[in-house]
Amino acid sequence: METAINQQTELKFYQLYVLYSQLYIVNYISQWGDFMVNSNPSTFESFEICNPVKVVYGVGKLNEVGKYISAKRVLVICDPVVQRLGYVDTLQHIFPECEIFSGIEPNPSCTLVNNIVDAYSNASIDGIIGIGGGSSLDTSKAVSALLSNGGRIEDYLLGTKKFSSRLPLVLIPTTAGTGSEVTNVGVFTHESIKKPMTSDQFWADTAVIDPQLTYSMPPRVTASTGLDALTHAIESYWAKSSQPYTEGLALRATKMIFENLINSINGDKDARNNMALAATIAGIAFSQTRTTAAHAISFPLTSFYGIEHGLAVVLTLPRLVLWTYPHVRRKMDEMLMYLGMKDIEELSMKIENLVSESGFPTRLREYNVKFEELEDIAKVSMEANIIKLTPGDMNYEDVLQLLKAIY
Ligand SMILES: [Fe+2]
Repeated sequence: METAINQQTELKFYQLYVLYSQLYIVNYISQWGDFMVNSNPSTFESFEICNPVKVVYGVGKLNEVGKYISAKRVLVICDPVVQRLGYVDTLQHIFPECEIFSGIEPNPSCTLVNNIVDAYSNASIDGIIGIGGGSSLDTSKAVSALLSNGGRIEDYLLGTKKFSSRLPLVLIPTTAGTGSEVTNVGVFTHESIKKPMTSDQFWADTAVIDPQLTYSMPPRVTASTGLDALTHAIESYWAKSSQPYTEGLALRATKMIFENLINSINGDKDARNNMALAATIAGIAFSQTRTTAAHAISFPLTSFYGIEHGLAVVLTLPRLVLWTYPHVRRKMDEMLMYLGMKDIEELSMKIENLVSESGFPTRLREYNVKFEELEDIAKVSMEANIIKLTPGDMNYEDVLQLLKAIY
C-alpha cells in the first residue's frame, strides 16, 4: 500500500515536473520573443557594426608597440605627467628617431591642436603614437588626420571639410575610462565649449592596452575615469542606437566596473587590470552607439565649471537611470538581473554610492554651480545631438528638472 502511494506521489511529481517544464519553456520563449520585438524595435531590424581598431591587451604590451606601427619618424603625443612616468622613454628606445610633444592639457582646445600641427608639419612625421588619457588620444587622432589632409581642426569640427586620410596611428591609454583608443570620436574645445566630432579617420590602427600603465594612476584619477567608463557602458546599453551586439558588451563592462572600481581605486592590481579591460569593452560598445544625455549635460558642466569629465558625466546618472527606466523597462530589468540588483532604485543608489565612496560630492551646488545657472546648463545640453539618443525623448524641461533634482 505504502509503495503504491509512493509510486503515485512520484508519478504526480513527475507529471507536475513535465508540466512545469513545458510551461516554463513556453513562457521563456514567449518572453524572449516579446523582448526581441519590443525592447528596441527600430534598430533590431537593421544595423551596422564597424570597429576596425585592432585591440592588443596584456601586461607589458607597451614594449611590443614597434610591432604595430610601420613608421620611422614617429610623433609621440602625451601630457607632462605621462612623460615624467617614463613610458615615453620606452617609446624613445623603440623609435630612436621619434619626436615628442608632451604639452597636452585637459580638454584640448582647437588652438592647441593647430599649434601641434604647425610645429611638426615640416618634420617628416610618418606615424603618430598617442599615449595618456582621453585628451592626448583625441589630440593624436586630430593631428594624424590634419598632418595628412591639411587645414585647421575647426574646418572639420564645424563640418565644412571631411578628413579623407591620416597617418598611421597607435593609441595607448594610461587611464581606464575614456575608451578613446577604440572610438572614432574626438572632443575639442571651441570658443570655450567642448564639442565632439566623429570621423572614419579617427579609428586608430591599433589600441595597445597595457594595464601596467594604469598602476601609477592616483586614486582620484582612477575614480573619475572609472566612473566615466561606467557611464559609457550604461548609456551605450540604453541608447536608442543600441542593438544586441553592443548590449552584450555594455552589460559585461557594467558588471566588471561594479565589481572592480573600488578595489582599483585602492590600488589592487588585478582590479586595475580588469578596469583597463572593462573601459575598453565599454569604449567598443559606445563606439557603435555613442552616448546619451549624461554626456550631453557633462559638456557645459566641464566647460563652465571645470568639473572633470568622469565626474561631470556620472553626476546626473543616478537620476537618469530612474528617468529613462519607464522607456526601457524590459531592457533595464535584464541588466538588473545580470547585476544581481532587485530594482532600478538599487542601481540608482549603487551609482550614487560609488560616486561618494570615491570621495566626490554628488550635488551640483557643491561644485560652485549657482541655482539660477541651471537654465543655461540645460540650454547648452540640448545643443549636443547625442541627447536625442536618450530613450524617452528628453526635452529642455526634462533636463532642467533633472538638474534641479541633483542641485
Ligand atoms: Fe566619457
